[in-house]
Amino acid sequence: MLNGSGTFDAIAARRAFGEALIEQFPFDAFVSKTITREPRQGNPPPRLWETPAGLINSIGLPNKGLAGFLESDLPQLAELPVPLIVSVMGFSRDELAQLVAAVGARDEVAMLELNVSCPNVETGLVMGADPVETAAAVERVRSETEKPLIVKLTPNAANPAAVARAAQDAGADAVSLVNTLKGMALHPQTRQPWLGGRTGGVSGPAIRAIALEQVASVSARVEIPVIGMGGISTGRQAVDFLAAGATAIAIGTESFRDPAAGRRIAAELASLSLPGTEPAPASTVV
Ligand SMILES: Cc1cc2nc3c(=O)[nH]c(=O)nc-3n(C[C@H](O)[C@H](O)[C@H](O)COP(=O)(O)O)c2cc1C
Repeated sequence: MLNGSGTFDAIAARRAFGEALIEQFPFDAFVSKTITREPRQGNPPPRLWETPAGLINSIGLPNKGLAGFLESDLPQLAELPVPLIVSVMGFSRDELAQLVAAVGARDEVAMLELNVSCPNVETGLVMGADPVETAAAVERVRSETEKPLIVKLTPNAANPAAVARAAQDAGADAVSLVNTLKGMALHPQTRQPWLGGRTGGVSGPAIRAIALEQVASVSARVEIPVIGMGGISTGRQAVDFLAAGATAIAIGTESFRDPAAGRRIAAELASLSLPGTEPAPASTVV
């Protein structure tokens, strides 16, 4: 059970909940918010719109940049009681390679996740939307670290399974999906885009059926582990993702409603039997 990158601020949560957060950490591994090489302010506000079944966010990857992350965030994230996965995004293959090398060299980091899918930033779409671009990015960074590399796929691709296959063939150790789907909301009076970034990424229950289909089709195309996410808010929904082929799941938007959602969903999951493991109904026993 992981968190979706950018949906759980463990440093702020520790300030709010104190040592209780460490004692009852909601996830089995923690994924950082995506970092970039240079510091970023993010998109102008407003940055969120609530839909009947989820969110549209236009955060725009605000972060301290590589140096700021290594200096101030990493030591705090290293105190968490679970392995740390750092999410990185580069605006060129070389920039991505620099991030992978610098982050991968740190002992505190267990794995890296390549965000090739953030739809809020113009150039984010390019790498993850196309199998050839994705393969070139993974090939470029693969030799920069021996640590496991997860490629986070975008659902805004014509063929996510082909992108996943390309990532595997280029050396990825796992894929995670889905990131947010591109969406938009208009101001109720002005009919102008509500979000400061004009468009944003849709997440939450609204995207669950789409995510489930993509997890199933990606799982059928790759042999590496698949981390499934997209609108999961109960253990039963988590079982669906596992049945569709995911080997791990992540919780995103639900953590905004319930910061302990990861732990709750893991407990619900543990209480359910997985498909194929329950005893056959009596009538089918020979
Ligand atoms: C407010 C917000 C910020 C996010 N920031 C990131 C990010 O920095 N990097 C990333 O790869 N995904 C980011 N995501 C996407 C989530 O990690 C996840 O892939 C997506 O929300 C789908 O899962 P969910 O429906 O459970 O939220 C963000 C999502 C939200 C709602």
